[in-house]
Amino acid sequence: MEKKNILSVRNLKVSYKVYGGRSKVVNGICIDVPSGGRVGLVGESGCGKTTSLKAILGILPSAGVVEDGEIRFDGKDVREMSGAEIDLFHRRGAGMIFQDPSAALNPVFTIEKQLVTGLRYSFEDKVSRKEVYDKVVQALYEVSLPDAERIMKSYPFQLSGGMRQRVCIAASLAADKKLLLADEPGTALDVTIQDQILRLMNSLVEKKGLSMVMVSHSIGVIREVTEYVYIMYAGMIVEHGRTKAVFHDPKHPYTKALMECVPKLTGDGISSGIEGRIPDYLNPPDGCRFSPRCKYATDECRNTVPEMTEVEEGHQTACFMLRR
Ligand SMILES: Nc1ncnc2c1ncn2[C@@H]1O[C@H](COP(=O)(O)OP(=O)(O)OP(=O)(O)O)[C@@H](O)[C@H]1O
Ligand SMILES: [Mg+2]
Repeated sequence: MEKKNILSVRNLKVSYKVYGGRSKVVNGICIDVPSGGRVGLVGESGCGKTTSLKAILGILPSAGVVEDGEIRFDGKDVREMSGAEIDLFHRRGAGMIFQDPSAALNPVFTIEKQLVTGLRYSFEDKVSRKEVYDKVVQALYEVSLPDAERIMKSYPFQLSGGMRQRVCIAASLAADKKLLLADEPGTALDVTIQDQILRLMNSLVEKKGLSMVMVSHSIGVIREVTEYVYIMYAGMIVEHGRTKAVFHDPKHPYTKALMECVPKLTGDGISSGIEGRIPDYLNPPDGCRFSPRCKYATDECRNTVPEMTEVEEGHQTACFMLRR
């Protein structure tokens, strides 16, 4: 039987108000996250991954506008939630782990002060300070920071980058949220530490039965830890399906090109193996946004947006070539 989706995003469109008009970044994406499932979101820098996650959580910066779409969390449309419901959604429903842990931690408070206070807010002060303290210690232990007492008394600058990232993950875990949106956690760190952190997160998510969306440039990690994957290009999902199927037999020319650059992948350059660059979002192409870079593009591709088509069960791609 189909698993229930904890998150279901339909036709999400997000733009930014910028000088000269609207930058139409996210252009009608659909993403499903099954309850307890782990879903990867992959695409080169600037394709709109962070924008999508922030739109889902309702934490876009003021220039960001959700133009259209439906974001259902546990069956409820986030865009139609009341203030109190949104509050609950943020406290107990879904949380985000940011790319840069320093930005997520306040430099002037100790870890104890921020984590315990933050968590008491999450639990609406229904849990005693002592219980919250113990939960935080437990969470720090789970993210392999056994020296919890010392960490609690430290200020963020007294910890290494990897430790700060672990603290952020601990903060998300301790709040018992159902869905974690992990936005390239650890990109600011070196590659081995980053991989360690992603694997650690994955094992905790699995152990606790949480659901997760993981954004990563590391195709290797995505392949290893996610069950489903969405390939994003310039604000559109071009292919999705079971991770194994998509990686084993990619269908979309963009996914194929991505896979071909895998050995060259590092934090800074997914696009190194694909000619050209992401289009200008103020004036994006009318048809398929990948068409200017696609060696197979025809007039149809340049003029009409291709719809998602099933290429095998549960594996879909948006490309005219696969219909011909
Ligand atoms: N506050 C903003 N105002 C205007 N444009 C923005 C804003 N934030 C992001 N953008 C633009 O939206 C596009 C997508 O950015 P986003 O951060 O979502 O990409 P990303 O896929 O997360 O990239 P990366 O892999 O580098 O983190 C970019 O062109 C970016 O310049
Ligand atoms: Mg990003």
